[in-house]
Amino acid sequence: MSDTTVDPRLSEAPADSAQADAAADGSGRLEEVLVLDFGGQYSQLIARRIRECGVFAEMLPATASAEVIREREPKGLILSGGPASVYEPGAPAFPTELLDLEIPMLGICYGMQAMVRTLGGRVEGAETGEFGRTELTLRDGGGTLLAGLPESQSCWMSHRDAVFEPPEGFDALASTPGSPVAACESPDRGLYGIQFHPEVVHTPYGTEILTRFLRDIAGCEEEWSPQSVIAEQVAKIEAQVGEGRVICGLSGGVDSSVAALLVHRAVGERLTCVFVDHGLMRLNEAEQVVEAFERFGIPLVHVDAEERFLTRLAGVEEPEQKRKIIGEEFIRVFEEEAAKLEDARYLVQGTLYSDVIESGGSDHAATIKSHHNVGGLPEDLEFELVEPLRMLFKDEVRAVGAELGLPERLVWRQPFPGPGLAIRIVGGEVTRERLDILRGADAILQEEIRAAELYRQLWQSFCVLPVVRSVGVQGDGRTYAYPIVIRAVTSDDAMTADWARLPYDLLERVSNRIINEISGVNRVALDISSKPPATIEWE
Ligand code: XMP
Repeated sequence: MSDTTVDPRLSEAPADSAQADAAADGSGRLEEVLVLDFGGQYSQLIARRIRECGVFAEMLPATASAEVIREREPKGLILSGGPASVYEPGAPAFPTELLDLEIPMLGICYGMQAMVRTLGGRVEGAETGEFGRTELTLRDGGGTLLAGLPESQSCWMSHRDAVFEPPEGFDALASTPGSPVAACESPDRGLYGIQFHPEVVHTPYGTEILTRFLRDIAGCEEEWSPQSVIAEQVAKIEAQVGEGRVICGLSGGVDSSVAALLVHRAVGERLTCVFVDHGLMRLNEAEQVVEAFERFGIPLVHVDAEERFLTRLAGVEEPEQKRKIIGEEFIRVFEEEAAKLEDARYLVQGTLYSDVIESGGSDHAATIKSHHNVGGLPEDLEFELVEPLRMLFKDEVRAVGAELGLPERLVWRQPFPGPGLAIRIVGGEVTRERLDILRGADAILQEEIRAAELYRQLWQSFCVLPVVRSVGVQGDGRTYAYPIVIRAVTSDDAMTADWARLPYDLLERVSNRIINEISGVNRVALDISSKPPATIEWE
């Protein structure tokens, strides 16, 4: 699961790198590579892999103008794959105007085909496409791009059209059974193309190929690291905020915590964090957040609003109504606190790069996503947004958090929904008694999953309390109590998820402990549904 693995390169980079200093004093921009997105399913992954190679990469639409690209001064350009056929009417065009910029360019899959066809090579539909693991055979030692790699190796393909002849001046570097020209290059012009996908793990030499392009061809110095991210972001925040005061709503999750730490590094005591404790957190989580921030000396307003939230939730069973109430109440409490800090003009948001991509790319105006906070903050809150994680993937946020000294528990916390445990009490009212039962059961599950060293492998693991009772027998007596459902899933992005195959002995321990230790529970069940058709949460 790539999302829960800190990239070792990111963790190993030297703390005092010259590049980090350059970014910190604002004198130099970090080198970057741009991924021009033709709509391929792996485009984001390309950017991630490049960053794992130590080079900042950002995606831009394939239609980005030469002017925009020139201004960015990228060290290299990657043309991604895409679903179209190059000879279809309306197929995205190869950006010929970029050739004048003389920036080394690597086309991948569609990106290669578009380059080849535009420059006079032959691309045609093949009788059968190639999908999945495919044997690749190098030609003449593999040219510049593939030199030194095994003559024969496997690669990951996903294409129907194929390159039959490279353009004039290009060398063919490799072939597969369905791709007469599976790689080609014209080093004099700085143009390279590969039909297969170096970004997926099923291409064993993919990272080597990307590194060859980045290091040897584009001349990158691989300066992207948590330290350089911190230095760059601190400089940016200082420039944006100046002497202003900043407010940050903490949720207890890794994103808002890391965002707050970065801002604190830049503006110190001029940052105030507001932690609206709605009483729907897991056992001890609120205390952990408060303790961590106190340790950093970050001014923190901890609003204990449990009573308010429970009063408003009384009698409510319908899931969306619960969400709405919690969202509204959260805003109300936050506004009250914000009003006390009259001179705060800036608001920190933990927006991630994946949110930016989802909402249409980095050029869109900053908007507040409802998933980021409970219910989202209202747009009429008159703050300017500070979004220091806007260019980071989740695993990079964790690496930055670890570098900033955030406790391991917070760095690796699994995602937790804004409405908290309220949406895990299903089919009945959210009461303090039920919350306590759920919290107790959930704490046991977490403890056992951590002890089994499975916590980081799971996207999420939690308990659900369906408000039904069933009959049991405990000691000599009949019980009539709640069941607890265990939900544990693996996922990369929460869009799809699979139920985790937890070991039976672990499940047995969890079940025994929950039934023995939590009064009010006499039965434990396991949710074995994937998403789709189920969702991760029960509500
Ligand atoms: P589902 O249940 O839709 O969840 O498969 C996908 C991911 O989103 C989280 N989730 C929420 N997060 N507010 C949040 O901040 C919500 O109302 C909410 N509902 C679901 C869920 O935990 C999972 O990670």
